Amino acid sequence: MIFEDYDRFQDFLRSYPFKLPDELYQIKKKALSDHVPVIRDDTQRFMAFLMKLISPERILEIGTAVGFSALLMANFDDDLKELVTIEDYEPRIREARANFRRFDAPVTFLAGDAADILENLDGKFDFVFIDAAKGQYPEYLRLVGPLLADKAVITADNILQDGRILEPKEALERRDRTIHKRIRAYLSDIMTDESFVSTVLPVGDGLAVSAYRRKNG
Ligand SMILES: C[S@@+](CC[C@H](N)C(=O)[O-])C[C@H]1O[C@@H](n2cnc3c(N)ncnc32)[C@H](O)[C@@H]1O
Repeated sequence: MIFEDYDRFQDFLRSYPFKLPDELYQIKKKALSDHVPVIRDDTQRFMAFLMKLISPERILEIGTAVGFSALLMANFDDDLKELVTIEDYEPRIREARANFRRFDAPVTFLAGDAADILENLDGKFDFVFIDAAKGQYPEYLRLVGPLLADKAVITADNILQDGRILEPKEALERRDRTIHKRIRAYLSDIMTDESFVSTVLPVGDGLAVSAYRRKNG
């Protein structure tokens, strides 16, 4: 819970219709019943909003799971030419492949460790969604740097860690401390690098949004 009454706010928001196409809704429903982590309801709405606002041509997603967020972005992006998405967990790779086959979306699905793949990836992306290993966010940012178009947006999910990011690290269980440290490092990077204007929105589990402009020279 991010702030008091957050659950009431979510119910309130859900009372306004945000309709997914039925096939996409079925993927979400199955993911939830299989306990596959997918972007939360208000994040879905916000990502769809961003797609309509920006209409990126080339999207890079780190963390496919079973393809739900990738297909959601593809569905709401009117100018999409290619969406590249990366996943390394075999059971989800199989399911994502099957899901992508059912949709007529320009998805390039890359199976393997995200850091290894990013190291060797070519091309320029005008929208990046980071949603894989939380402890790797600073590394993903470093690897994504050379892949950014002159003008781009980076979004990163689960920044608030259900509120834990606000706590001093001493108050956390040992196993949560590395993620805490790395997400704080990611925030520090996007907030201090002058190529970005960034903020964190209390959407879902916290979404960091960074607008990027390549500096001349
Ligand atoms: C939160 S889920 C992604 C959810 C998806 N974006 C959605 O909303 O539909 C994170 C995914 O990242 C994958 N992942 C974690 N570490 C990874 C890595 N090093 N390389 C590639 N994928 C990774 C996990 O297996 C998991 O399926």
